[in-house]
Amino acid sequence: MAEKVDILQVIDFPSFTNARLESLFSVHKSFQAKDPDAFVEGLTQRIRGIVLTPPATARRALLEKLPKLEIISAFAVGVDVVDLDRAAERGIIVTNTPDVLTDCVADLGMGLLVAISRGIVAGDRYVRAGRWLREGDMHLTTALGGKTLGVVGLGRIGKAVAKRAEAFGMKIAYHGRRKQTGVDYAYHPDAASLARAADFLVLCCPGGDATRHMIDAEVLTALGPEGFLVNIARGAVVDEAALIEACQKGTIAGAALDVFENEPRVPEALFGLENVIVQPHQASATVATRTAMGNMMIDNLVRHFAGEPVLTPVG
Ligand code: GLV
Repeated sequence: MAEKVDILQVIDFPSFTNARLESLFSVHKSFQAKDPDAFVEGLTQRIRGIVLTPPATARRALLEKLPKLEIISAFAVGVDVVDLDRAAERGIIVTNTPDVLTDCVADLGMGLLVAISRGIVAGDRYVRAGRWLREGDMHLTTALGGKTLGVVGLGRIGKAVAKRAEAFGMKIAYHGRRKQTGVDYAYHPDAASLARAADFLVLCCPGGDATRHMIDAEVLTALGPEGFLVNIARGAVVDEAALIEACQKGTIAGAALDVFENEPRVPEALFGLENVIVQPHQASATVATRTAMGNMMIDNLVRHFAGEPVLTPVG
């Protein structure tokens, strides 16, 4: 029997994904090592593949240690955690898990939009704290119907969120790198212009240098005191310090965040804010979707090491 290919796993996956991965490959789990760097040093001539998901990274320093590396297979659609430029220079294949997660990520985006505008999480806290009984009705909330949702990044996920929002009676506008043909939604060439036109912003764009801090104090001011922000993209798309200040001062009405700049660390300043919902980066985290993502990540490895084209190359 052929020897199993050596794969470096830098972060844990669901048990069903681990089990299938381990049945097919010789898996080296650096995240379980006391000293992950020293662990990798002992494997440098053997590792031919890396598997990972955010917030773990595969930056240049790791890639340079692994001369035999052929493929980085991500358990994620967003691959900003990988040094794509260096991987391309070295001819290392990068794969991701598109499509299988679109609906679940869009569901959470829409769910957060409803939850933050209608005060669902605040309402839960209100009842549990006995305030309904003591103080009577909670404050009134914000309707979605007839309002404009500004989608930042009208890709697969952005379009799926837009479709859901249309079913809620919302109008859609968007910002992205370019105006799309075959799309009726109003296009805005920059995020501030979209924020001015929109009642709510939902971030669905890729992370990385091109979008870092795209949502800054100016964009938040443009969104305005009645505007809500939903982030299901990457934390770094937003200037987190500016967002905290905007939520504290009421520059915007509130924010619902599934992603943060320095996960899993979430700024404690957000914890005390009634107009903020925080989630543990869980937009794709359903059993069905995580199963499909794990299988896709593994199938890409299997195909590559069988000498076949991978299913979902990035770029
Ligand atoms: C999750 O954040 C993903 O990119 O799939």
